[in-house]
Amino acid sequence: MLVKLDDRLAAVAGLVLPGQAAADIGTDHNYLPAFLRQRGVCPRVIASDKADGPYRNAVALTRRLGLEQTLEVRRGQGLEVLNPGEAATIIIAGMGGRLTIEILAAAPAVLAQTRRLVLQPQRDLPQLRRWLAEHGWRIVAERMAYDHGWYYTALAAEPGEAVLTPQEAEFGPCLLKERPQLWLNYLRFRLVKTQRLLEQLAAFGGSGERVLALRREQAELTALLGQDK
Ligand SMILES: C[S@@+](CC[C@H](N)C(=O)[O-])C[C@H]1O[C@@H](n2cnc3c(N)ncnc32)[C@H](O)[C@@H]1O
Repeated sequence: MLVKLDDRLAAVAGLVLPGQAAADIGTDHNYLPAFLRQRGVCPRVIASDKADGPYRNAVALTRRLGLEQTLEVRRGQGLEVLNPGEAATIIIAGMGGRLTIEILAAAPAVLAQTRRLVLQPQRDLPQLRRWLAEHGWRIVAERMAYDHGWYYTALAAEPGEAVLTPQEAEFGPCLLKERPQLWLNYLRFRLVKTQRLLEQLAAFGGSGERVLALRREQAELTALLGQDK
């Protein structure tokens, strides 16, 4: 059986450094590590999860696919399961941005010997982008995906100097330059949401900081989208 990935995880897989070992932290179902091994993207993959159920499922899938030699499943918290230098790429996908930051911040020795981080947070992306820039990581690629009715962003970061403007932290330094169609769709989706919120607040006579922030967001989204006309 060949593992297939949904569009969200396919975007993550596309950012992994080929030909080098990778680690997927918080793997859950273990589909991504299995995919990376079956397609020969990485010669060796470590899959980890802190929870017993996902760990057992990951072990079971590895065995079912006959990947035990090159896909090792470990149980534990965050990057504690890794020795420095064991994985060129560290993947953390499908968690909150703040938890992703906590996991990264707790393991400076592992990060010091990591060549690429591939991250796909479910929320708090601006905070994560800022944390990366403040801790010596430069975002080198960003990919959008649309899956099960929701937009996702995956990013790759490598050691390096980076200064992010507030707009780059919010919308993505690479996405702002490349302006892919899915990102434009995502901006339109955000603009519609912002406009609806403003209408609801206006109906209740809303004013103040919240309304001002939403108007600023509306203006920024409109300007970003306007560049495409
Ligand atoms: C929502 S799932 C995401 C699974 C997969 N990475 C994906 O993107 O589809 C999050 C998984 O991360 C695991 N997890 C949460 N915090 C963790 C931590 N600090 N260390 C290791 N695993 C963790 C959970 O047990 C869960 O299986």
